[in-house]
Amino acid sequence: MDMSDVARRGLVLLGCGKMGSAMLAGWLDGGLPSRSVWVIDPMPSDWVRAQGVNVNTPLPTAPAIVLIAVKPQMMGEALPVLVALGGGDTLFVSVAAGTPIAAFEQVFGSGTPIVRAMPNTPAAIGRGITALIGNSAATVSDVALAQELLAAVGQTVLLDREEQMDAVTGVSGSGPAYVFHLIETLAAAGEAQGLPADLSMQLATATVAGAGALAEVAEEDPAQLRVNVTSPNGTTQAALEVLMDGDAGFPDLLKRAVAAATERSRELSRG
Ligand SMILES: NC(=O)c1ccc[n+]([C@@H]2O[C@H](COP(=O)([O-])OP(=O)(O)OC[C@H]3O[C@@H](n4cnc5c(N)ncnc54)[C@H](OP(=O)(O)O)[C@@H]3O)[C@@H](O)[C@H]2O)c1
Repeated sequence: MDMSDVARRGLVLLGCGKMGSAMLAGWLDGGLPSRSVWVIDPMPSDWVRAQGVNVNTPLPTAPAIVLIAVKPQMMGEALPVLVALGGGDTLFVSVAAGTPIAAFEQVFGSGTPIVRAMPNTPAAIGRGITALIGNSAATVSDVALAQELLAAVGQTVLLDREEQMDAVTGVSGSGPAYVFHLIETLAAAGEAQGLPADLSMQLATATVAGAGALAEVAEEDPAQLRVNVTSPNGTTQAALEVLMDGDAGFPDLLKRAVAAATERSRELSRG
């Protein structure tokens, strides 16, 4: 199955909020005809209504894809409308955080191809990263198609095992919030050194964004980039001695933060 099958047989999008709309925008930009998309959402936005997609109309009987983008807590209420589409060759793709493949297999049957995907919020500007894993009924080409759909909102990576999804959640899923907090605290630290709040925030935001962009394109790995900007006994070294402290520094702090998020993801998946 490929995108031409999606255009021909249709794509059903269940839940068209922030993530659903970001993906839909990417698909339409990529050339998917709007008439090939069926959106189910109790309160579709004006933007969704203006796209020419089918909104809350009867569904095709065998769409190529059903993409599930409702909040995990709405799943019980939202999934029943899709039950008739399970058990065939319609591929189900879920982006819901913390909802395991088994929960979908219970509703649609274990013979239904299902791909679980975990995007993150920079997807809203096409700069997300999504990790994907398929169930045993999902073929290599099913997973590749899910990957192509998620590529509309950024990079994609494939996982070997569903258990890895909890650590992915701890690193990239929740990670944007850690970086936002880094920006906040870097700006506050600049203020503490006498800079005006606005100026300090602008410096901190541009520094994080610029360093992130540099880390992505540079040939050197981030550790080498750090070394490159650290002159002996200079200003950066003075700060890094604080940040890289073995007990109270970044390494242990982030390790504990990611472990806490990973553990919480495990708990949520257990229900
Ligand atoms: N946002 C992200 O960056 C991000 C990252 C990773 C994973 N995710 C996952 O993506 C999913 C959606 O998140 P989101 O941020 O896009 O949330 P959201 O903006 O709240 O979107 C969810 C949409 O689903 C709709 N909905 C509620 N009940 C429904 C039903 N019974 N049938 C159909 N649609 C229904 C909601 O409508 P109402 O507003 O009217 O309730 C809303 O438009 C979640 O499972 C989340 O875990 C999101």
